[in-house]
Amino acid sequence: MIHIPVLSNEIVAAFEPFYARTETVYVDGTFGRGGHFRLLLEKNPGMQAIAFDQDPDAYAFAQAHFGELLKEKRLLFYLDNFVNFEQHYDGPIDFALLDLGVSSPQLDEPSRGFSFYHDGPLDMRMNNQTGITAADLVNQMSENDLVVLFKTFGEISNPFRVVRAILEDRKETPFTSTKQLSGLIERVDGWRRKGFHPATQYFMALRLKVNRELEVVDEVLPKLMAKLRPGGRLAVITFHSLEDRIVKNLFRIYPELGEPLRRKVTHPTREEELANPRSRSGKLRVFVRA
Ligand SMILES: C[S@@+](CC[C@H](N)C(=O)[O-])C[C@H]1O[C@@H](n2cnc3c(N)ncnc32)[C@H](O)[C@@H]1O
Repeated sequence: MIHIPVLSNEIVAAFEPFYARTETVYVDGTFGRGGHFRLLLEKNPGMQAIAFDQDPDAYAFAQAHFGELLKEKRLLFYLDNFVNFEQHYDGPIDFALLDLGVSSPQLDEPSRGFSFYHDGPLDMRMNNQTGITAADLVNQMSENDLVVLFKTFGEISNPFRVVRAILEDRKETPFTSTKQLSGLIERVDGWRRKGFHPATQYFMALRLKVNRELEVVDEVLPKLMAKLRPGGRLAVITFHSLEDRIVKNLFRIYPELGEPLRRKVTHPTREEELANPRSRSGKLRVFVRA
């Protein structure tokens, strides 16, 4: 259930201009278990950190493991979607990090409903206090909307048979559990690639929709870029090709604000992929404020 921070050497390297620099403001939009934060804090113990996570478990973790920093207000933690960051902090930023998607503890905890390997409620909300669940979507969306969702967010070319089976099954019993849905997908699509569960992309599509993951990235990046101090940096780690496309495009269309640190995307090294298979689809892009 631990979370291994992805592309951590590369994030620490991108933070280099701020090592030990006084009055550095660091914004961590996706605090998780504070893995990246801890590494950056080692490089700049005096920095002011402002953290966001919409998952109450992440806040509980911060209280348990970074209580002293919270008390001294060297770490400010907001239990909120990072898209609302300006409501909490409106000042200049030196380094911001978005490590998108879900953390390993979220994925591995059956009660959060992200996993097709463990049975649990079909939930998938990062903020499990509010909002619609994956079960709501599966039980209520029209045939056409489900097809479009799986095609666009899941990048599944032919989701028709699965969607039809969902519509058939839900007439009898509404979907409530992850196994109910992953079992249906296994039954209809079957295993095609060893080690790649046939439900992977369906679950990904539902998760993106439940948490509005693409919309919030699209909305927040220009705001964060505009708040960077000259020379400030924004690092974004994505795990989905559509998400990476949004980052790539937004980093290029505001030349008056700055430009990407590198033209090409950074992938985890082979060693990292072997040590942490969950890093495999990770991609890093860094924007530098002019
Ligand atoms: C991949 S994990 C981050 C792990 C973290 N970098 C670490 O090293 O521990 C992503 C975290 O960001 C949170 N998150 C994702 N999207 C968010 C959003 N739009 N607003 C706030 N938190 C978000 C998730 O709840 C999760 O805890």
